[in-house]
Amino acid sequence: MSGLTLVFGLFFYLSLAIFLVGFLAKTWKYAFTPAPLRIPQTPAPVSAAGVPVRMFQEVVFFKSLFRGNKLLWIGGYLFHLGLLFVLVEHLRFIIAPASSVLNTLVTYDLYSGFVLLAALTFLLILRVAIDRHLYISLASDYALLLLLLAIASSGLLSRFWDGGHIRMNLPQIKAFIGGLVTFNNIGSVPTNKLFLIHFSLVMLLLIYFPFSKLMHSGGLFFSPTRNQVDNPREKRWVTPWVKTRPTATLPSLEQQAPAAAAAPVQETAEVEG
Ligand code: HEM
Repeated sequence: MSGLTLVFGLFFYLSLAIFLVGFLAKTWKYAFTPAPLRIPQTPAPVSAAGVPVRMFQEVVFFKSLFRGNKLLWIGGYLFHLGLLFVLVEHLRFIIAPASSVLNTLVTYDLYSGFVLLAALTFLLILRVAIDRHLYISLASDYALLLLLLAIASSGLLSRFWDGGHIRMNLPQIKAFIGGLVTFNNIGSVPTNKLFLIHFSLVMLLLIYFPFSKLMHSGGLFFSPTRNQVDNPREKRWVTPWVKTRPTATLPSLEQQAPAAAAAPVQETAEVEG
């Protein structure tokens, strides 16, 4: 095994470990963070059965974003759709032989790549061109968009730029990634510079993921504004963590203010007239 293969192999496993442990730890924290108040964002479901329906609409259609900001919805929705297709199509580097469904999808990989790139560019333009977006944008928002843009551009560049020679190296890339994922027969890493850039940027994204706002992917399901039922008039809300504690008793009057409790009760003077 060459030194370069060892470096990139270790880089892959380290990034993956940081991503998995970080993602699970953060999601665990979200799951057990007390939600002491009833704060569903209305209109909200009035029965527990309505909650999965609401979550489905949020996850699949980004419903509340659609109500709130149409431009952002278009950019965000196309970005997520493009990303989903690109990631599924990338399974061709792991699954061998590629299934027929995957083969059909892969024929459209170029479209997904362009949708991803266009949506990311649009989201970046929105941040700088609209005052409201510019005002709330942080350096980390731009850094994330630029990182994703660099990943999508380096991937797409390999399709058009012959100097990249990625296409010729595809079998070697497949052997390397397939070996890493199955812990078996890891081929030597392709020395193609464009591939190494694309791959390294993806590993950086994996490392940054648990510390970034990308954690909304796990956090959404635990958001009290989205997963609570709007029924405070029908059912008294008792915070779940109160049930796990010993029953709270109010301190007696003597415990609260001994001097006041000892003082004789004043007779109220009757007003005559
Ligand atoms: C370990 C992970 C990854 C590996 C090994 C990898 C590898 C590759 C390779 C070899 C290509 C060129 C395919 C060809 O020429 O047929 C490519 C294309 C591309 N990659 Fe990646 N990639 C990875 C992750 C990602 C991620 C996370 C994204 C998006 C955020 C992405 C976005 C793209 C895009 C947009 C293209 C061009 C369209 C396509 O061929 O699907 N890649 N990638």
